[in-house]
Amino acid sequence: MNPSRLHAHIGTVRQLEILLAVHQQGSITAAAEALHLTQPTVSMQLKKLASAVNARLYDQVGRKLVFTEAGLAVVATAREVLQSFERLDMTLSDLKGMKAGTLKLAVVTTAKYFIPHLLGEFCKLYPAIDIDFKVGNRQQIIDRLETGEDDLYVFSHPPDDHALQAHNFLPNPLVAIAPEHHPLAGEKRIPLQIFANEPFLMRENGSGTRHAIEQHMTGCEVALNVRMTIESNEAIKHAVISGLGVSILSSHTLTFGGRTGLAELDVQQLPITPTWYLVHLKSKSLSVVAQTFLDYVSDSGRDRLLATLNS
Ligand code: PGA
Repeated sequence: MNPSRLHAHIGTVRQLEILLAVHQQGSITAAAEALHLTQPTVSMQLKKLASAVNARLYDQVGRKLVFTEAGLAVVATAREVLQSFERLDMTLSDLKGMKAGTLKLAVVTTAKYFIPHLLGEFCKLYPAIDIDFKVGNRQQIIDRLETGEDDLYVFSHPPDDHALQAHNFLPNPLVAIAPEHHPLAGEKRIPLQIFANEPFLMRENGSGTRHAIEQHMTGCEVALNVRMTIESNEAIKHAVISGLGVSILSSHTLTFGGRTGLAELDVQQLPITPTWYLVHLKSKSLSVVAQTFLDYVSDSGRDRLLATLNS
């Protein structure tokens, strides 16, 4: 297709950028605000884009925008086009001898305790690299992975998928915790079944920590006495401190998030020992800044982090 006809069919890059913002923000008002444009400008550009692709892009259902199949196809292309431009920008900076651009990281909630410790030194080494840092539970990060919005993802239980490249970089011990004056605190080699009889505070559905605990307990043929489901590591720690029950959490939530008021229990068949992975899609070529971050982690970042964890 000749370029001017292509332009007539898919609209301008600016229109694609506006469409993507509307899709991400969920409304024209929010997209206009995010892009510092007026609402009529956004609506006008979307109208032009719809006429260029000759299809309705979305329907207004009550106060919600529902994208049509054609609209979602244009969103997917818009994402690819804009990502290619971003990558080009980074490659050009790299050719000029400067590592610059945005590193888009999406990490599971438990990884938010230690990833910032990797970023501190990295940002000092590469001051022209900006970081876009998203946090969600395992399921939310899998959903982001499917749209390919970010450069790198951090999981300890990446989905079992051949389309992914996973770089193992750190152990993630999941340890048993109880309030500091709990009768089991200080006991040696507590049988798993005794621990399992205690009221247990469990992470929510979709959490990787929960996934690991459930798999492990099934393997050990032990059923936990789950009393409460709580959506955050921090809230679980506070609930344990206040005597609501015991739990199993990543030791990183204690090392970097504090352990005051908590005892780590010595339970047989624990800790569970998954591994943290930096993950990316094989189909998406890594940007210069993403590759720079991966190199930094394997060259020195990982060792620095291990030293902090062991100190
Ligand atoms: P979570 O994930 O923070 O969703 O529990 C941790 C993991 O992937 O192990």
